Amino acid sequence: MSKMPQNSADVPESIIEPVPDPLDEAAIGAAVDNALAAIASAATLEALKSARLAHTGEKSPLSLANREIGALAKEFKAAAGKLMGGSRGRVAKALAARSDVLEAEDAARILLEETVDVTAAPRRRRAGARHPLSTLQDRVCDIFVGMGWEIAEGPELESEWFNFDALNFAPDHPAREMQDTFFVEPPEAHLLLRTHTSPVQVRALLERELPVYVLCPGKVFRTDELDATHTPVFHQFEGLAIDKNLSMADLLGTLEHFTRQMFGEEARVRIRPNFFPFTEPSAELDIWHPGAKGGPRWIEWGGCGMVNPNVLRAAGIDPDEYSGFAFGMGIERALMFRNEVADMHDMIEGDVRFSEHFGMEI
Ligand code: DAH
Repeated sequence: MSKMPQNSADVPESIIEPVPDPLDEAAIGAAVDNALAAIASAATLEALKSARLAHTGEKSPLSLANREIGALAKEFKAAAGKLMGGSRGRVAKALAARSDVLEAEDAARILLEETVDVTAAPRRRRAGARHPLSTLQDRVCDIFVGMGWEIAEGPELESEWFNFDALNFAPDHPAREMQDTFFVEPPEAHLLLRTHTSPVQVRALLERELPVYVLCPGKVFRTDELDATHTPVFHQFEGLAIDKNLSMADLLGTLEHFTRQMFGEEARVRIRPNFFPFTEPSAELDIWHPGAKGGPRWIEWGGCGMVNPNVLRAAGIDPDEYSGFAFGMGIERALMFRNEVADMHDMIEGDVRFSEHFGMEI
């Protein structure tokens, strides 16, 4: 970097040694004033950062002037160094001071904004409640476990063989038709959403040692439209007892005990002849419900019977040696008559106010 001497026009260029001027004190003073003004007016740490860059950064007037010192004639160097040192020192000091002020302001603001009011009332969250269908199902299970029975489970996606064939449904039984059963693609897989909990009977017999006393609660599926009394997904529980010398009297005694535990000492059961492919004889089960809201009355609740020998054979059991009984009831139906729930929608919509109404068991 070289500056032309002022009288360069009179002297041939080749013989002139360029002699730089001393630094322009006034210009440097103005640069310092600009820097101090910018620093003083920076209202945030962010603004101060911009001011720092503009007035002390590599391309700032002060840095550029500082860089010129090296090229100055010897006699100007000391004064220039002193001038620049002093100027840059003033700016640096102002920056540090302003930075302290702004940082303190920032800390005070954060403290204020993030203050926790320990006296504020907490926002209330509803604790929720177990669905009455689950509590009712647990109650059923508890009663049977109390009689020494075991709880068994089976898959909701079931094979057609367990759901129908093994239970002695004829191949052309109307319940297999598409309007009742959700078959699952592809048809060759012969899979469906179980239409009842009865397939767990056969599974339990294949998996367990005899004698077997099991209760199988769970979801079942049928192609019904949702309305006040139907839902395509609902719950049943299935009971199965296989032992030596079991009779219809054992079935009735078991159901009577269960019903009393469930609905009170005055509860009674009665059976009426019916047909199910997997029981013979088969019966419809009614219970005398003393606590029904509309007054004590007989209520139809489910099916039952002596396990059909064909079902025992499907599970590899000799029907001459073993016999047993089975029953199946709906849980939604029990909730309807026990608690006078008139509309199925209330059970499936998931409004916690419906569940709370049954108590807050968790
Ligand atoms: N599975 C029958 C249904 O869903 C109910 C049933 C009837 C189950 C008789 C049984 C039984 O175990 O013995 O309609």
